[in-house]
Amino acid sequence: MAKYYINAANRKSRIHKEIYGHFSEHLGRCIYEGIYVGENSEIPNVNGMRTDVVEALKEIRIPVLRWPGGCFADEYHWKDGIGPKEGRKKMINTHWGGVVEDNSFGTHEYMELCRQLGCETYVNGNVGSGTVQEMSEWVEYMTFNGVSPMADLRAANGHPDPWKVDFFGVGNENWGCGGNMTPEYYGNLYRRYQTYVRQYGSGMDFSADAGFEEDGKIRKIACGPNIDDTQWTEGVMKTLFRHCDPRMHGNADGLSLHYYTHPEGWEIKGSATQFDAKVWYKTLAKTLYMEDLIAMHSAIMDQYDPQKKLGMIVDEWGTWFTVEPGTNPGFLYQQNTMRDALVACVNLNLFNKHSDRVKMACIAQMVNVLQAVILTEGARMIKTPTWHVFDLFKYHQDADLVESSIETELIGAEAEYMVPSLSESSSVDADGKLQITVGNLSVTDAYPVETLITGFDAKRVSGRILTGEMHDKNTFDDPDAVTSAPFTAELTAGALRFTIPPCSVVQLTVEE
Ligand code: AHR
Repeated sequence: MAKYYINAANRKSRIHKEIYGHFSEHLGRCIYEGIYVGENSEIPNVNGMRTDVVEALKEIRIPVLRWPGGCFADEYHWKDGIGPKEGRKKMINTHWGGVVEDNSFGTHEYMELCRQLGCETYVNGNVGSGTVQEMSEWVEYMTFNGVSPMADLRAANGHPDPWKVDFFGVGNENWGCGGNMTPEYYGNLYRRYQTYVRQYGSGMDFSADAGFEEDGKIRKIACGPNIDDTQWTEGVMKTLFRHCDPRMHGNADGLSLHYYTHPEGWEIKGSATQFDAKVWYKTLAKTLYMEDLIAMHSAIMDQYDPQKKLGMIVDEWGTWFTVEPGTNPGFLYQQNTMRDALVACVNLNLFNKHSDRVKMACIAQMVNVLQAVILTEGARMIKTPTWHVFDLFKYHQDADLVESSIETELIGAEAEYMVPSLSESSSVDADGKLQITVGNLSVTDAYPVETLITGFDAKRVSGRILTGEMHDKNTFDDPDAVTSAPFTAELTAGALRFTIPPCSVVQLTVEE
């Protein structure tokens, strides 16, 4: 019997809803086909956005959507994507498959998508190949409410009212595809570019930033490290905070971190659907490395920002496997199994647990690319096992993380890749309900769990489970092969007992 301790009276940090964020890039069939089919498509749509996809994303309460990249962001020139569609420039998407990008999805379409989704906006600007003026004008175009060249242009293009930009990324992966910069060079560019990301929406208020917390301003995200590149974190943080009014937190509200899980390494990656138990555990062990990464980069951030005002923004995470056979290698299209579900469960529990520093995360990517929550084929759409994990975890959004720990044993097939048997996190939401998510990482063993809850008068419990064999997946012919089902836990005298089957994710809501 695994003992699971929850002290609901010890509230730790807020689980910002943005931890459940998504990422959409002009890559493969993510934007085109996956989200945007155009107003004249036979696929049901509203202003060109697929209705089935929008509805599925609203169901999991998508809080924020990052766009337009990724590597694409540092090659994107926003003026190519505004105005009458027939006049928009065409370009080659050099990063992703060398296909023609016709710019029919641009700023207006992205804002319309976020309006339909009811989510926050996270626009990623171009530092690698763009100018300060270009970035500054984009922000003016999107957010200035008054008479100005860019506001007038926006009105001429059919949108007199400004939009709200909640987050703005100043470059992407500038250590690599975003310009191959050194951290100090990027840090200086960040300082310069962000100066012209004006706070038009909040009356040009330049007073001290609140850090990541919402204060009506655009929250600016600096490009952070790849995986374990602590030199980058150190170099950027040092540069941001040098000669800087300490109240301004280096004029950044967040620093990104990118980490993908590819079980067989970057070169080989490995199949999304064909793997054995060894590779299953290896994948999960590599996913759990996320916790080490959060700790190592947090330790550096703490030196400059001990109050943790700056968010760690894990705005690219997820599995990255070899593409589905027969698909364009530049499109990064992969299937999604129960292994992806457990990867999502482990990562989301970790983000919850470290929500004092991790304030936003965006899974890569939303539709048809990498660890997608949705796959489409023509007019057909499927929700992947990962979608179901987001569905089970959605109750943590904006809840308070509470103290909890679970007894685990080390399991696995190879000494190098042992993992704890169970992963968990728990929170108390705005309605005072206790929200629990537990994953069983074993492919063979069920675990009876006894949950001892203090600081909470548990009276009722309900729940759901996502479970299956490790290779289980949804396909266009069998779209509901993997789906969640009601789950029963027994509640007696403050103790909650349940047995979690192998390879599963359980969600419980406990009420007083
Ligand atoms: O998500 C795919 C790519 O991975 C992104 O464009 C880039 O930022 C990262 O390397």
